[in-house]
Order: sequence, then structure tokens, then C-alpha cells
Amino acid sequence: MIPKAEIHCHLEGSIPPKLAVELAERNGLILPPNLFDEKGHYAWKDFWSFLDSYDRVCTALKKPRDFRDVIYSYLAGAAREGAVYVEMFCSPERPAALGISYVQWLEALAQGIDDARREFGIVGRIIIICIRHLGPERAEAMVRAMLAEPHPYVVGFGMGGDEAKFAPADFAPAYRLAHDNGYGCTVHAGEVVGPESVWAAIRDLPVTRIGHGVRSADDPALMEELARRGIVLEVCPGSNVALGLYPDRTSHPLHRLIAAGVRVTLNSDDPPFFHTTLGTEYELAGLDERHLRGIARTTIEASFADAATRRQLLERISP
Ligand code: ADE
Ligand code: ZN
Repeated sequence: MIPKAEIHCHLEGSIPPKLAVELAERNGLILPPNLFDEKGHYAWKDFWSFLDSYDRVCTALKKPRDFRDVIYSYLAGAAREGAVYVEMFCSPERPAALGISYVQWLEALAQGIDDARREFGIVGRIIIICIRHLGPERAEAMVRAMLAEPHPYVVGFGMGGDEAKFAPADFAPAYRLAHDNGYGCTVHAGEVVGPESVWAAIRDLPVTRIGHGVRSADDPALMEELARRGIVLEVCPGSNVALGLYPDRTSHPLHRLIAAGVRVTLNSDDPPFFHTTLGTEYELAGLDERHLRGIARTTIEASFADAATRRQLLERISP
């Protein structure tokens, strides 16, 4: 099996329908109506209804243990597909709304990470992610909370949510704070908005990676700039096709980005929503084994894990 690694997967977006049902039952909660379609898949029709559906899945979560179980089950599944490392986007907004403290939540996630490491050898790390449409004040408060309670597994800061709301510059104070305190930074851009969104992100934020960034392929000068600066794209082809950015994998710009010298990684984003897994992304990328191994290496290099962990992982995947 080709060794794999992943740096773009959302914690709550990784919950398979079966686990959502189990968690809701265990917690005595009723899941919202119309969460599933007739086949038992999550029901949504466009980017905004996807974000809404994502929020509704979160209603299955109640206790710290639930967060432990979600990250553990994702890491276990990824390890079975050959993943040695996963960086998970985790939003403190959910536990806060449930009255779970930041520290309690992190301890639960760390427990899941430790259990998966012990049982499957996979290394997990956490990226704290703010939600763009909730605005810059919430983002900055989140970074302050992250800095007040450092945890060895929290290695980076990022932002998801509605890319059309606010501008990257609005979030510059939050990102500066994270970056100046040693956290790696990434931001979703160039997914539902075009190349101008990526230009603004790399101009105004201290990021070394871009979440998606695939719309950069519409602008040769931008691809050149990304290649020159070595900025890594967290590419999620299955997600992009499912959300209708491209009609199919053949028209997806993954290969064009690679040909332009842009450093790319392969990721699953919100796998059960988009009917994909990390293994599926590797399998359907249309790349040979040498390229796929190179992508796994780029993923570890671009990860926000400390240098010793990255070195060990690189040795593990290229003996
Ligand atoms: N949150 C979860 N998945 C996302 C995506 N693909 N884009 C933006 N925000 C997200
Ligand atoms: Zn994402």
C-alpha cells in the first residue's frame, strides 16, 4: 500500500452517517429532519446547503467523549488506508456551544489521537480553525484562547466557512498573532471564489498553505507565484467535484497545477459528505506510484508538526 498523509480534513465533516446516528442515540438526541437522503447519505445540494448540513450533523455531539470517538474513528479508518499522519481541522465553536471547555475538549481529542497512535501507529495533530462567516472578532478571540492553553498536538491555525464573506485582510490580526507565536497557518481560498481570493490570502495572511486553492489554475501568473513561493495547496478533488466546481475528475485542475510546478497534496475534506476517503483520492488521482509517493512526502513536509516528527514520518514513508 502506498503510504499516505493528509492535512485537510474537518473533524465534524469526517463523521459517517452511521456514527452520527450512534452518537445521537447514545446522547438521547434526535437528529434534525432531512439530514439524510433516501439512500442514507447526507442530503445537501450546493456549497451553502452543504455548510448547513455540516452544522446539523454536529447536533449529534454532546460530550467530550463524542469528540474523542470522532477523531479516533477517523484516524483508525485513515490508518487502514495507509495513512501515517493526519492533521485535523477542529473548530472550538462546537464544544463552546455545548458548554464544554476548550481544555476539556482538547483532552478528549488528544485521548482519541493517543488511542489511535497506540493501536494503529498513525500520528494525529490538530489545527484550530475559525469560521470565516462568523467574522474577525471571533477569529481573534479563538487565537487568544489557543495561545492561553497551548497543547503539544495543536500545531496550526486555519479558517474555513463561507469564502465570499469578509476579506483575508480582516483576519490578518488573528493570523499574525498565531504566526508570531509559532503556529503554522493555512486558509481556505480559491474554492468557491476565484484566483483573486488566493491572491488576497497570500498577500495579506502569513500562510504557507492554501486550503483547496484549485481556482489558481485559472490564472497562470498566480500558479507561477505559488510555485515560486513554494506555497502548498491542500487539494481535495472529490470534494471539488461533489460541490460542482468541476463536472468530473478529468476536468479537475490537479494535473495542470502539478505541471505548473505548484506543490500539491491530496486530501478528503469532509469525506462522507463527498463520498470519498483519502485512499479513494490517491486511487482516483490519475497519478502513478512515483507521483503519489511524492505527494505523500510533500504532505509531511508541508505539515505543521515539529521538525523531529516530520523527520520520523519522512523516514517511515521513504525507507
Ligand atoms: N468547512 C467544511 N468543509 C468546508 C469546505 N469545503 N469549504 C469551506 N469550509 C468548509
Ligand atoms: Zn475544507
